Amino acid sequence: MPRPSASTTYEKSRTSTRHPLALTIILSTALLALSPAQAANLTDNRRSGYAFMGPPLRAMQDDDMTNPASLWQRDGETLWAEPIGEAGRSCADCHGDAASSMRGVAARYPAFDRTMNRPIDLEQRINHCRTAYQKAGPLAFESHDLLALSTHVARQSRGLPIAIENSKALHPFLAMGRSLFHERQGQLNLSCAQCHDDNAGRSLGGATIPQAHPTGYPLYRLEWQGVGSLQRRLRNCMSGMRAAPYAFGAEAFVDLELYLMWRANGMPMESPAVRP
Ligand code: HEC
Ligand code: HEC
Repeated sequence: MPRPSASTTYEKSRTSTRHPLALTIILSTALLALSPAQAANLTDNRRSGYAFMGPPLRAMQDDDMTNPASLWQRDGETLWAEPIGEAGRSCADCHGDAASSMRGVAARYPAFDRTMNRPIDLEQRINHCRTAYQKAGPLAFESHDLLALSTHVARQSRGLPIAIENSKALHPFLAMGRSLFHERQGQLNLSCAQCHDDNAGRSLGGATIPQAHPTGYPLYRLEWQGVGSLQRRLRNCMSGMRAAPYAFGAEAFVDLELYLMWRANGMPMESPAVRP
């Protein structure tokens, strides 16, 4: 299993340095005969967690009627239109119809925020609008309302490619996320990469180890019987490594989220996905 991006530099696109020019031309000519999905399979060894699931779970994710996360999304749609806080304004008052204003937004997060001078994730972005523009208190991480709103916003990016900006301002944070991904930690002295790069596709205690692409968050996890954020998922993995999980909202988490989204650049968003 090739290591998805361990050696790719941030400045260059993931494939540009790999093949000599002639080979690239031969490959591109051959690829014209294939459908985009077939072509992606040949050139890209990255796989979403979706690819490691059986047909029943895939079907559950694909159909809004059976995807349990739709319930959260519908609550998010209601909250979107509710005027709240001292400002008495709703998300819709400023952003209008989420289907157009939020299209592709979740695919770009975490994104660099000039006021914070660092990347913030989608949940922090939503809370920023609550406090700065609605003059309401921030929602707690993993609270029903924050998950509902982030699910509603992320749903508007379903099918669109992940598009973390290649901006110099993000590079130090990407580098930090990358080193957290490769650093051994916890009582088991394991790194994320040892499971997700070196052993993806193998089974571990009844679960198949995916490549850790964050294509589907927030998502419905059967084990949780509910919707959770990417940070909740990462906390689960850190507990599994017998490492002390970072606090929700910690900068290290956002750096890790940024790195995971960056190495999944171009992969389609599935939010809200379903996972075992
Ligand atoms: C001991 C192996 C192991 C280690 C170490 C590990 N994970 Fe995981 N991870 C798993 C398994 C197994 C799953 C899937 C669990 C399931 O679906 O039941 C998973 C799931 C994930 C997912 C969800 C992918 C999806 O399709 O939604 C992400 C993201 C992830 N891990 C990131 C990380 C990060 C970041 C680290 C390091 C902080 C890490 N993991 C450490 C085994 C590991
Ligand atoms: C008073 C107007 C106002 C309200 C109310 C408001 N926002 Fe915003 N929102 C903005 C502005 C202005 C920006 C972009 C400028 C900035 O970064 O502050 C923004 C940016 C965003 C972004 C990032 C968009 C991007 O392209 O990166 C998201 C997501 C978002 N808002 C979600 C929400 C949600 C969800 C709510 C309701 C809980 C909400 N906003 C309420 C004004 C508002």
